[in-house]
Amino acid sequence: MSKKEIIALLNSALELEHAAFVQYLSHAEIVDGINEEPVIHACSAPIVNRLKEIASDEKNHQDKFRSIIGDLGGVPSMRIAATHQATTIKKILEQNLKDEKAAVDAYRKILERLKSEKGQGYYSYLIQHEVTQVVVDEQKHITVLEFLLGIQGSSY
Ligand SMILES: [Fe+2]
Ligand SMILES: [Fe+2]
Repeated sequence: MSKKEIIALLNSALELEHAAFVQYLSHAEIVDGINEEPVIHACSAPIVNRLKEIASDEKNHQDKFRSIIGDLGGVPSMRIAATHQATTIKKILEQNLKDEKAAVDAYRKILERLKSEKGQGYYSYLIQHEVTQVVVDEQKHITVLEFLLGIQGSSY
């Protein structure tokens, strides 16, 4: 795999992170709006916080990918992958769970490509390590979303 291909893969990952960040913040705002209902306020306020916490992780992932792309001499993409709207708390959690799984699948592919490169390149372990850390975070997000949906362990 050429350096150009690695940069292209990392840029598509960066675009996914742009989408995830915007989507979580938008969904947090929608859940906050649903919060206006006094009856459900107590149970949905923590969800807003969790969505914002995850958004902040996605922002860190953007920084990580931008930094590796820059280190490789590439130009970080400013594009954004597809985002998905949802209007109820349950649908918001389900949509993000689906999108987190898609992100894990995409990053797994990057890691597999990197593995086949072992022994070549002088930053291959560094890149592999950084992408692995991002996948670990996404898998944590999956466990948080499953917990909020009350379906722990269903994605394993
Ligand atoms: Fe992420
Ligand atoms: Fe995530």
